[in-house]
Amino acid sequence: MNKTVSIADLKTDQKIAGEAFVLKEFETKQSRVGKSYYNLKLGDKTGDILGKVWTENLSNCERGLAIGDIISASGYIQEYAGKPQFIVESMKKLIDAAPEEFLPVTSRDRSRMKQDLEDEITKIKNPYLKKLLDAYWPNPDNRDKFTNFPAAEYVHHAYVGGLLEHTWEMLKLSKPFFEIYPGLDWNLFFTGLFFHDIGKLEEYDIVGAAIVRTTPGKLVGHITQGIVLLHEMIEEIPDFPKSLRDKLFHLIISHQGSLEYGSPVVPMTLEALILSFVDTNSADMNQAIKHIEKGLHTGEEFTEYHKWLKRSFYQGDLINHSSDVD
Ligand SMILES: [Fe+2]
Ligand SMILES: [Fe+2]
Repeated sequence: MNKTVSIADLKTDQKIAGEAFVLKEFETKQSRVGKSYYNLKLGDKTGDILGKVWTENLSNCERGLAIGDIISASGYIQEYAGKPQFIVESMKKLIDAAPEEFLPVTSRDRSRMKQDLEDEITKIKNPYLKKLLDAYWPNPDNRDKFTNFPAAEYVHHAYVGGLLEHTWEMLKLSKPFFEIYPGLDWNLFFTGLFFHDIGKLEEYDIVGAAIVRTTPGKLVGHITQGIVLLHEMIEEIPDFPKSLRDKLFHLIISHQGSLEYGSPVVPMTLEALILSFVDTNSADMNQAIKHIEKGLHTGEEFTEYHKWLKRSFYQGDLINHSSDVD
């Protein structure tokens, strides 16, 4: 397997000879004059690049390639609409490649984050919430998925361990609220926090070396899937109080903060308000940090416009600082 260049370092006019990438998107299109070509997105640990296979090169590409396959691709990089684009002249599947070498992974320590969440679970006093957490977490399959799954395909924490990192960041961000404001229900809040994105384990999957959105994920979405999962678990716990269930469901369904962001109701308890705050804090910080990391190599003072956060970020000090260090 040939991996000598990373996507983050690709330059215009660079020639690529048989380098390994993940096939992240793959679509056959028709040009205006009726000729077929492929639209691609290729990835590695460092990022993604859009690509094309023009009609004259289609016969140099192996048939039957699928999303998540690791491929060997040759061609060159050109600039299109101000961004690099990979013109692929040939590609074939690599059989012996290890998917984990191509998936982006959290830079934080997964075992430490897992331990911090476990420590909180052991402190939960409410017997019903404790039973609910204990029905989920000790199961090795659940723990494994929670620890390794991404929190998204693209938007935030979109890498192996992303859901764990997002949940852990929210745990850390929420602590000051409970120091400052008295009378809040930590047991309820923590259980809601822990399970708030649990539906993402159904919404996303890791296929080969690609993070993909599943069909149930597209049809049902993570909020509804989370509620279905929790409802099934709660049904197994005798006498689980209905009012507690409703307040827990409220935390899950309102966590995206507004109808515009996909929550069917807005937060109407103080715990739900805090959950939606820290969910946004963690997601926005992650997007901003990743966007700046991606933009640094340009040497520009400001990053490209970020379409979700609706701004460019200033990175001048970081660029100057990195040249000082050099
Ligand atoms: Fe969410
Ligand atoms: Fe979230």
